[in-house]
Amino acid sequence: MTSPSTSLSLVDTDPAELAVDAIVIGLHSQTVQDVGPAADFAGTLLLATGAESIAAAFDGRLTETLALLGATGSPGEVIKLATLGTITAPLVAAVGLGPEPTGAAPAPETLRRAAAAAVRALAGAERVALTLPVPDDEDGPAALRATAEGALLGAYRFAGYKTRPQPTRRPPVAAIAVHVPDAGDDRARAEITRAGVVARAVARTRDWVNTAPNELRPPSFADSVAAAAREAGLGVEVLDEQALADGGYGGILAVGLGSEAPPRLVKLSYDPAAAGADGSVKRLALVGKGITFDTGGVSIKPAQGMWEMKSDMAGAAAVAATMLAIAELKPAVAVTGYLPMAENMPSATAYRPGDVVTMFNGKRVEVLNTDAEGRMVLGDAMARACADGCDYLVETSTLTGGQVVALGKRVAGVMGSTELCQRVQQAGDAAGEPAWPMPLPDDVRKGMDSEVADISQVNATMDRAGHMLQGGVFLREFVADEVPWAHIDIAGPSYHAGEPTGYWTKGGTGVPVRTLLELVDDIAAND
Ligand code: BES
Ligand code: MN
Ligand code: ZN
Repeated sequence: MTSPSTSLSLVDTDPAELAVDAIVIGLHSQTVQDVGPAADFAGTLLLATGAESIAAAFDGRLTETLALLGATGSPGEVIKLATLGTITAPLVAAVGLGPEPTGAAPAPETLRRAAAAAVRALAGAERVALTLPVPDDEDGPAALRATAEGALLGAYRFAGYKTRPQPTRRPPVAAIAVHVPDAGDDRARAEITRAGVVARAVARTRDWVNTAPNELRPPSFADSVAAAAREAGLGVEVLDEQALADGGYGGILAVGLGSEAPPRLVKLSYDPAAAGADGSVKRLALVGKGITFDTGGVSIKPAQGMWEMKSDMAGAAAVAATMLAIAELKPAVAVTGYLPMAENMPSATAYRPGDVVTMFNGKRVEVLNTDAEGRMVLGDAMARACADGCDYLVETSTLTGGQVVALGKRVAGVMGSTELCQRVQQAGDAAGEPAWPMPLPDDVRKGMDSEVADISQVNATMDRAGHMLQGGVFLREFVADEVPWAHIDIAGPSYHAGEPTGYWTKGGTGVPVRTLLELVDDIAAND
């Protein structure tokens, strides 16, 4: 179901003479106090750097024309204008960048969102050039990366299941050229290559998340991941239900019991050819929750909105896609991905509240709510990652509704070892995927003491309080003592139910692929 891929290139020739279907320029808003009388709308607009030659071709009347068309320069706004022969391209699209930042280029995230909004608004055009403000200094590479990523992510579209083509939905832009000072610059070319790899990884994650849950059950999800990984040259190991039983993966098996489609654990590995700076190579384990559908099981969820639980494998999809990107980017870090997959269904064979489950690391868990299935499959996968050996363990999952209540739909929660959590947060900030650290309080763990087993699956004394923290506290039990670890709860940010905005299309967002890739770069550079 992969959507058609959009191509990406660099140009450095005069934008006014580019033979493309549309040119995107940036437009800043200015406050009325800065410019005088409110009636002078053109005076409240300011063309961004990069639009100079196009403005000249319009005889200096471009801002005036944009004002007539209602432009305000606010973020997300796209105003299109037929050029009627003034420049080579038949169409100019002015995308809002908000107020001009004093003395600096716009933030990378501003460019990422603007490029996406413009490219989405230009659906139907085949070739589009972007002349957004990419500075010719040390901020240039980050601005270029953000612009290129945003443009490609804005062009993403899920193929879907409609039996007829939709005449009102124009096809996404096929080719994007980003205008830079020097198209031959090695750093610029490297950024554009990386942006293509990253955008493909995000698109793959979105495709897997958006796939209907009847089409993506654990065996077919495992097959789909394994096929892509083999093609990319990654090491692939798939544990089926028999191998899981032989290996003692009680958590994954328990959740899988309720479904006719049996569970899987997929392991993907990448080993760098070259060693790191000091000759040694760090080992990073990535674990992603792969519940292909979460009904809640016997502790069943309400019907309203349950369809969104097709996205409960967003963590596994993100880890799989990150591994595919790593196979192309070839960082000097050994990375292993672990994807526990199961379908959480209520049935006569399903696991039940009160069950005691022996996990991969031997700990016994008292099940209290079958809807807390994520931590059951993750506990096994994280313990396996530690048994294999790793220097860092990063796990990501649509783990709790509590994450959405606490931090909303944009900001992920991060729990675990303080220093690694900080690095995850910094990686997220650089990538435009915000995350915020959350605590693992002792009293939350205390309430998870079980009468009969080593630990309860949830804190029965706390009811719905601190659900996100309970998830983190539980998962800590499955990390080897000496291993720095981070748990990223992406219940909110991994799925966008609203209308498209910025580079977020409807459905899967691809969070936290860009964070994970940024973190890999950080580990490769700094250990
Ligand atoms: N997959 C859900 C969490 C979720 C909720 C993801 C909303 C995305 C959006 C998870 O398996 C779940 O059901 N969590 C429960 C845990 C509870 C039973 C301890 C929750 O958050 O209510
Ligand atoms: Mn659940
Ligand atoms: Zn779930």
